[in-house]
Amino acid sequence: MAFSDKTLAAMEHFGKVLEQQLERVEMMKSAADWIDYGSVDRIIIGVCGGDGIGPFISEHARTVLEDLLADEIASGKVEVRTIDGLTIENRVKVMKPIPDDVLEELKKCHVVLKGPTTTPKKGDPWPNIESANVAMRKHLDLFANVRPVKIPEQGIDWVFFRENTEGSYALGSQGVDVNDDVAIDFCVTTKQGSERIIRLAFDYARRNAMGKVSVVTKANVVKATDGKFLDMAEEVAKDYPEVKWDDWFIDIMTAKLLDPYRAKDFKVMVMPNLYGDILTDEAAQIQGGVGTAGSANIGKRYAMFEAIHGSAPRMVDEGRAQYADPSSMIKAAAMLLNHIGKTVESQRLEMALDVCGQFEKRLAMTGRSDGADGAAYAQYVLDTVKDPGLEEKWKGYKEGFKA
Ligand code: IPM
Ligand code: MG
Repeated sequence: MAFSDKTLAAMEHFGKVLEQQLERVEMMKSAADWIDYGSVDRIIIGVCGGDGIGPFISEHARTVLEDLLADEIASGKVEVRTIDGLTIENRVKVMKPIPDDVLEELKKCHVVLKGPTTTPKKGDPWPNIESANVAMRKHLDLFANVRPVKIPEQGIDWVFFRENTEGSYALGSQGVDVNDDVAIDFCVTTKQGSERIIRLAFDYARRNAMGKVSVVTKANVVKATDGKFLDMAEEVAKDYPEVKWDDWFIDIMTAKLLDPYRAKDFKVMVMPNLYGDILTDEAAQIQGGVGTAGSANIGKRYAMFEAIHGSAPRMVDEGRAQYADPSSMIKAAAMLLNHIGKTVESQRLEMALDVCGQFEKRLAMTGRSDGADGAAYAQYVLDTVKDPGLEEKWKGYKEGFKA
C-alpha cells in the first residue's frame, strides 16, 4: 500500500516517539536506588515562585518552612535557595518549558518547593509550549504524584498515587496534526513505569496499615495501556498478601468518591496519570477546594512539592493576589518536611493546617479583601504549630467530629 506524504511524516514521527520511549525504559531499568537523606551533608531545598499567585503563596510557605527548619539552616544541614526564572515570560523567551539554566539549578537541589506555573493551551495569548510541571516531572523523573485528602468528620482519609511520567502526559506535546481533519495523541504505559508507582502505593498501604489499595483504570475500553497497568497491579499485589486490593473504572470512581456509603472505604488509590489529574481535583474539592490540597512529586533522586491548582492569573489581574490562600503550598511544605525526614515538624504542620482550615477557622480566606490575606494566614498557621497545646486541640476537634 502506498502511503501519502502526510501519513509517512506521521509514521516517521511515531518511530521517533517509540525510540524515545524504549530509551526511557532502559533508563528506568538502570536507575539508581532511592536517595538516603540521612547521608546527605547538606540538603538543598530550591524554591521556585512560578507565575500568577505562585510567588505570593510560595513566599508564605517558605516563611513557614524556614521557621520550622531554623536550626538546620543555622547549622548548615539545610540550605533554602531561590531559583528564579521559571516564569511564563522567561519560558516563552526561550520557547522551552524549563529554561536550561533553571533546569541546571534545579538539578543541584535535592528537593524543590514550586509555586504554580501557567500552562498555555492552544489559542492562549502565550505560545503553546509544554507545561513546566510536566517537563519537570519528566526531567527529574518524578514518577509518583502523591496527593492526600482528609475529611475527618466524614472519616475520609485518602491518599492518591498518580503515575506522573507516563500515560497521556508523556507525549502530550508530541501528538500529530496529521492533516486538517485528523489529530492523534499518544498514550504510553510501560511495565517498569507502572510497577514502580503501584509498588509505592502498596508499600505505603503496608507501612501505614491502610489495609486496601484501589486501582483505577478504564481497562475495559483502553485495553493496551490501561490493561498493562492493571496487569502490573495484579503482579505487584502478590507481594503484599496482607493488603487487599480492588479495581475500579475511572468513571464510576468519580461518582463513588461522592457516595457517603462508599467514600470512606477508599484508602490508597493508584492510577495512570490523566485519571489521577482529574480524580485529585475532585477529591480536593470535596475536602474544601483545590486551594487546600498539596502534592508531592517523588522520584528516586529528586522530589518536588507543589499546590495542585494553577496560577490563578485572574486573581492577579484583579489585584487580589495577596488574598490567595497559601494552604496548598504550606501543605506542600509539610509534605516536603516529611520527605526529608523531619516527620515531627511535618505532622505538627499538618495538624496546624487542619486546626486553622477545618476546625478552629479563626481566620477566613475568601480570596478577597473581606477575608484574611495570605501573610496573616501563614502567620496564623505558624502560631498554631508553636502552640504547645496543638496536639490536644487537634485530637479534641477530631473526637468532636466523630461524636
Ligand atoms: C496538576 C496540574 C497539572 C497537571 C497542569 C498544571 C499541567 O493540573 O498538577 O494536577 O495536569 O498535571
Ligand atoms: Mg490537575
